Amino acid sequence: MTEHHELGRPDRNLALDLVRTTEAAALAAARLVGMGDKIAADQAAVDAMRIVLDTVPMDGVVVIGEGEKDEAPMLYNGERIGDGSKPEVDIAVDPLEGTTLTAKGMPSALSVIALSPRGTMFDPGPCVYMAKLAGGSDIADLLDLDRPLADVLGQVAQRRGIHIRDVMVVVLDRPRHEAGIREIREAGARVRLISDGDVSAALLAVSDNTPVDLLWGIGGTPEGVISAAALKCIGGTLVGRLWPRDDGERQAALDAGYDLERQLTQDDLVQGDDCFFSATGVTDGDVLQGVRYPASPRPGAATTESLVMRSRSGTVRRIHARHNRDKLRVYTGERFG
Ligand code: FBP
Repeated sequence: MTEHHELGRPDRNLALDLVRTTEAAALAAARLVGMGDKIAADQAAVDAMRIVLDTVPMDGVVVIGEGEKDEAPMLYNGERIGDGSKPEVDIAVDPLEGTTLTAKGMPSALSVIALSPRGTMFDPGPCVYMAKLAGGSDIADLLDLDRPLADVLGQVAQRRGIHIRDVMVVVLDRPRHEAGIREIREAGARVRLISDGDVSAALLAVSDNTPVDLLWGIGGTPEGVISAAALKCIGGTLVGRLWPRDDGERQAALDAGYDLERQLTQDDLVQGDDCFFSATGVTDGDVLQGVRYPASPRPGAATTESLVMRSRSGTVRRIHARHNRDKLRVYTGERFG
């Protein structure tokens, strides 16, 4: 037995167990792509992920889940998951990141899960939203939510040796971002608007050789924690600041001891050096291909593509898998073929 195991720290690459959970969720959600029912798609993903999670060798507590116990019958915040054996870990799950994307048959819906040792994952409490700025590690020192966006963009262009008109910022298309979008464009940079899915956008912004330099804007806090776990594995930087929606939420956060001025880095959102991340594509996107149900050569089978990573080793795997119809039946409750 290794020293790590005695400490209850993960001493094996749990990401390889986790990938089965996101594959299951993606396969189930994919049956509902384009059907116009985001709640059913999310439920299918949750149910399928839950089946596989019970088999993962860990004693997990859901820190980022589907919400409070009363509203979420499964994968609720605080729920214990895994087979109960060591290591003791915190879990962040988003069985379907991009419920509306899935319902509308649009790109970049994912199933994601992240895991880190117990007590290391940021609990957002009452804070649903967070302002985020993310980009590659070469521009880490430039990412600061307190500096004017135009300055940040100018310095990113300078650092990368490109003209500011070639700087592309991915932004969620929301009315709350109108002023920021104007600021980006007035600075001479470009905006790629997305309707949903800022975990996938964060991955795109930090990856080399993509047409996107930065992610900017206010998105979900859970998605911020999940993105932080991914960035700790793949590289890149994310800074975030809690963004209460109204006075009630602000007061609740202050009463709970949250510092609303503080810029949180990925190391505040997921502490330490041993987190695991897995994402499987549901619909086709820039980062991952979605689930495919080919008619041949094996009707009834399906393929998935996943990104599976561990921060401590820095291992990043892209896993293409084919799943037979028996497995699909278990995850989706449907008959195939
Ligand atoms: P869902 O999968 O829960 O629908 O969330 C998608 C998403 O677009 C996230 O990627 C993003 O962080 C958040 O919603 C933004 O929230 P809102 O849609 O309320 O602006």
